[in-house]
Amino acid sequence: MATTTLAQRYVSEFAADVRSSLTIPLQRELPSKYLYDEVGSALFETICVLPEYGLTRADARLLRRYAREIVSKLPWSFHVAELGSGSGKKTRWILEALSHRGQTYYYPIEISPSALEACEKELGQIDMVSIVGYERPYLEGLRAVAERREDGDHLLVLFLGSTIGNFDRSAGDVFLSEVRTILKDGDALLLGTDLVKDVPRQLLAYDDPAGVTRAFNLNLLARINRELGGNFNLARFRHQVRWNAEERRIEMHLESTGQQDVAIHAAGLRITLAAGETIWTESSHKYEPREVVNMAKRTGFTCAGQWIDEEWPFAQNLLLAR
Ligand SMILES: C[S@@+](CC[C@H](N)C(=O)[O-])C[C@H]1O[C@@H](n2cnc3c(N)ncnc32)[C@H](O)[C@@H]1O
Repeated sequence: MATTTLAQRYVSEFAADVRSSLTIPLQRELPSKYLYDEVGSALFETICVLPEYGLTRADARLLRRYAREIVSKLPWSFHVAELGSGSGKKTRWILEALSHRGQTYYYPIEISPSALEACEKELGQIDMVSIVGYERPYLEGLRAVAERREDGDHLLVLFLGSTIGNFDRSAGDVFLSEVRTILKDGDALLLGTDLVKDVPRQLLAYDDPAGVTRAFNLNLLARINRELGGNFNLARFRHQVRWNAEERRIEMHLESTGQQDVAIHAAGLRITLAAGETIWTESSHKYEPREVVNMAKRTGFTCAGQWIDEEWPFAQNLLLAR
C-alpha cells in the first residue's frame, strides 16, 4: 500500500514537472534531474569514460592525488554525505583517507535507484566504512542524514562532478545556502567545479562523435514515453549543444526537426512544436576559481583550499561552514 502511494506521488510529480516546464512561454524546458533513470544513469557512466569528457577524469585525478591533503585540513572525524553520488567511484579516495582515522559512515543521496545500487556495490567493501544509502532528493536526503547524527558528530558533504553547474548561478547560491542551513559550524563541503576552458573543447565534451551524450539527452523523451504515456518521435529530434558566452554555460537542447504534435497522457498535455524549436534539457555552468571562493563567502562558507587540475581545468574546493 505504502509503495503504491510513493509510486503514485512520484508519477504525479514527474507529470506535473513535465507539464509546467514544457509549457514555459518562449523556451520550453525539461528538468535535468529526469535524465537519470536506469538507462540515463548507465549512459552517464559511459559519458564519464569518453575521451572527449575530461571532466570526470580531472575530478578523479584530484581526489586520487589530494584526498589525504584535503582530509588533513579537517580536524576531526567526519560522517560523509554525498549529494547525487552516481556510482561513487571517485569517492573511494576520500573514504579511504578518512577511514585511517577510524570508523567512517557514508551516506550517498540519490534519486536514481540504479545509481544508488551501483554506489553501494562499489563502496560497500571498504574497511572501516559503513554505508547507508538514501533514495531521496538532495536536500531531503541531507536533512535526514543531519537529523540522525549525534551531538559532536561532524558532517562532510561531497558535491562532486560539477553537478552544482546544473543550477543557474543564482539558484546555485540558493542551493548552497540551503545546504549551509542544514550544516553546523565546523562541518564541511567538498565542491567539485568545472572551470572555463576553450570553447571547442567544452562543446565536444557534450557532443561526442560516438553519440553517447546524444542518446543520454534523447533518453529523456524516451523516458517520458515509457513512464508517462508520451508519444515523442525520437527520430524527429536533434541533439543540440550550445555555449552561452554571457552565462558561461553549456546548454543541451533537443531540437524539433519539423513541426509536430506531441501528447503526454499522464501529464494531460498536448503541444505543437515548430520546426527548429528546442526543448532545453540541461545546463552545465563553468566557473573561474575566484568565483567559487566568492560563492562560498556569499553562502556562509569559507574556502579552506582549492586544488586545480591543469590537464582539464577543474577545481576541488574545500568549504568550511563558519
Ligand atoms: C552529473 S551526475 C554526477 C554523478 C557523480 N557525482 C559524479 O561526479 O560522477 C548527477 C547525479 O545526481 C543525481 N541527481 C540529480 N538530481 C538529483 C536530485 N535532485 N536529488 C538527488 N540526486 C540527484 C543523478 O541521478 C546523478 O547520478
